[in-house]
Amino acid sequence: LSAFKQKTGAEKILFSSPKDLKKKCVCFKVYMKFTTTEKIIMTQQNLVIFDHPLISHKIALLRSVETGAKQFRELVEEITTLMAFEALKDVPTKLVEITTPLERCTQKVVVENSVVIVPVLRAGLGMVNGIHTLLPTAKVGHIGMYRDHDTLEPREYYCKLPEDISNRVVYVVDPMLATGGSAVAAIDFLKKHGCRNIIMMNIIGCPEGIKAVQEAHPDVEIFLAAVDEKLNEHAYIVPGLGDAGDRIFGTK
Ligand code: PRP
Ligand code: URA
Repeated sequence: LSAFKQKTGAEKILFSSPKDLKKKCVCFKVYMKFTTTEKIIMTQQNLVIFDHPLISHKIALLRSVETGAKQFRELVEEITTLMAFEALKDVPTKLVEITTPLERCTQKVVVENSVVIVPVLRAGLGMVNGIHTLLPTAKVGHIGMYRDHDTLEPREYYCKLPEDISNRVVYVVDPMLATGGSAVAAIDFLKKHGCRNIIMMNIIGCPEGIKAVQEAHPDVEIFLAAVDEKLNEHAYIVPGLGDAGDRIFGTK
C-alpha cells in the first residue's frame, strides 16, 4: 500500500480497513493497469471491480457488435449471477437447526425477505434473473428512468417499490454506469423512501460515473464487472457495449 500511495500521490487510502483486505488487493491490481484519473478512484472505499476470467470472457462476448439480443440477454444474466455470488456475501443470515440423516446441527441461512432487487428500467430488468437464480425469494422494486437525449439528465417515469423496502438490503441493478446521473437519482429516490442499506451492481462503469456516485452517496457499495476508459462526446461509455437497453430488448 505504501507503494500505491507513493505512485498515486494519494493522501489517504480510504479502503484500508482490515476487513477489506481482499478488496484492497483487487483495487491494487486494477490500479496497476490504470491511468491517473482512475488511480484516484481506486483510492476510494466501497468499490469492487471484478477480475475473473469467466466474467472477462463473457464481457468480451457482450461487447461484440456480432452478439444478438438473445445471447446478449443470456450474458447479462450470467455475468450478474457471477457478480451476485460476491455482492450478496453480506446479506443478513440467521442460524437454524437442521436434522441430517446422521444428527442435528446448526446452519446459517439467509433471512427471508431481507433482500430487494431494484432494476433501473429498462436495461436493469436484464439483471434481475441473474440474482433470482441465486436468491429466488428476493422481492423486486422498479424505478423507471431514462436519460434525456439532449440534456443527458435522468428523467423518472415509473416507480413501484415493495412496501417494507426501508428495512431491507436493496440491490440497485443497471448494466451501465455512464455519467452516473441515473444511478444517483435512483439512489436519491430510494433514500427518500427510507432505504439505508443500498448496494449498486453495474456491469460496465467508467471513472466519471463512479466518481458521481461516490461523491453523492459515499455509503453505497458499488460492484462493477468492468471499468472502461471514459465517456465519449455523447456520454456513451467507450469502448463499452453500446446502448444496453436497445441491445437487451432489440429496439434498434
Ligand atoms: C441507460 C442505462 C442507465 C443509464 C446510464 O439507460 O441503462 O440507466 O443509461 O447512463 P447515466 O449513467 O449517464 O445516467 P437509458 O437512459 O438509455 O434508458 P433505457 O434503459 O430505457 O434504454
Ligand atoms: N447507457 C447505455 O446503455 N450505454 C452507454 O454507453 C451509456 C449509457
